[in-house]
Amino acid sequence: MALNTSGIIGQSTTLAGVFRMLSKVAPTDSTVLVTGESGTGKELLVRALHSNSHRASKPFVPINCGAIPRELLESELFGHEKGAFTHAIRSRPGRFELADGGTVFLDEIGEMDLNLQVKILRVLQEKEIERVGGAGCKKVDVRIVAATNRDLEAEVAAGRFREDLYYRLNVIPLHLPPLRERGGDVLLLAQHFLECFCRKKSRSLLRLAPDTRRVMTAYSWPGNVRELENFMERLSVLVDGDNVALSDLPQKILNQVGDTPDLMPFPREMSVSGPAPLVSREPAESKIPPVFVWPDLAVLESENMNLRDFLDAVESRLIDEALEKVGSVKNQAAELLGIKRTTLIEKLKKRNL
Ligand SMILES: Nc1ncnc2c1ncn2[C@@H]1O[C@H](COP(=O)(O)OP(=O)(O)OP(=O)(O)O)[C@@H](O)[C@H]1O
Ligand SMILES: [Mg+2]
Repeated sequence: MALNTSGIIGQSTTLAGVFRMLSKVAPTDSTVLVTGESGTGKELLVRALHSNSHRASKPFVPINCGAIPRELLESELFGHEKGAFTHAIRSRPGRFELADGGTVFLDEIGEMDLNLQVKILRVLQEKEIERVGGAGCKKVDVRIVAATNRDLEAEVAAGRFREDLYYRLNVIPLHLPPLRERGGDVLLLAQHFLECFCRKKSRSLLRLAPDTRRVMTAYSWPGNVRELENFMERLSVLVDGDNVALSDLPQKILNQVGDTPDLMPFPREMSVSGPAPLVSREPAESKIPPVFVWPDLAVLESENMNLRDFLDAVESRLIDEALEKVGSVKNQAAELLGIKRTTLIEKLKKRNL
């Protein structure tokens, strides 16, 4: 069955690893623990897990363990019998019962208190629940998927999370990398959100100016995809005209990255004879890490190049760098480039024509 990634956008290799895991894990009934910083898309991933499973036509029942007061969480999860506590005027099923046949998503599991953790462990092991104030157990058929942005191992070490539950949940760990480790996905997502918001607001499509794109790629996005999404919505409301210029970026981003357009010389100084490096080696400010910037069609357009010119220019540059590094010893340069010596010689000949 083809994997339906349910609106999860991204082409980075880090995310491709997540999709690979997802396609293997989704059809099984194994318990999955999704980790990742806030805003990395954990909920989106869990929904994709459910919709790619054989439980897809059954309920998906999310519960945010951090948002429901402790005293209520147990009855919310397991239900209660009439008279179990003061306001229990009638019996009520809990989310586990409502999810029968489907998936229960325990979001922010790191916030759950230790007493309730024991009861979750029991559901995982015995596949049965007991309503609050109830006299007996009831079998439930649910898959449990949990998520957290806490370091659960550290929580275990600090005595705030049960070790046995941690291991029982962590059968299949799925980690979502932060946005800053997803390279070109920043711009891909930005474009996607901009299109959505501009369409929703019936305004003409906004384009990100090259400098804006460079700065956005260099920024660390501490709030991850959620921060990027909210930011694109703000732009769709506030920017007049069709172009998002550097000056439209909030101070928070400019302060961190610096607003020097030369920050990443690519593609500004690019020419067929020698494009600027794709990786900036000398950032304008030393605190800025080197940044890889994926080229896009706008680059070809602005440099008046076609794909062939572009690829030749990049290749040429890497070959020169390799030759320089090894004092022009061709077999060593070829090794650095991961190509055969004869291929390198061929390429050099072609270039000199
Ligand atoms: N790869 C992605 N493609 C498209 N949209 C995404 C992607 N990742 C996240 N989003 C969007 O970003 C927002 C935040 O995602 P989500 O709520 O899944 O994050 P989270 O990891 O659960 O965050 P938190 O830890 O704060 O609960 C949502 O609106 C979601 O649709
Ligand atoms: Mg979430």
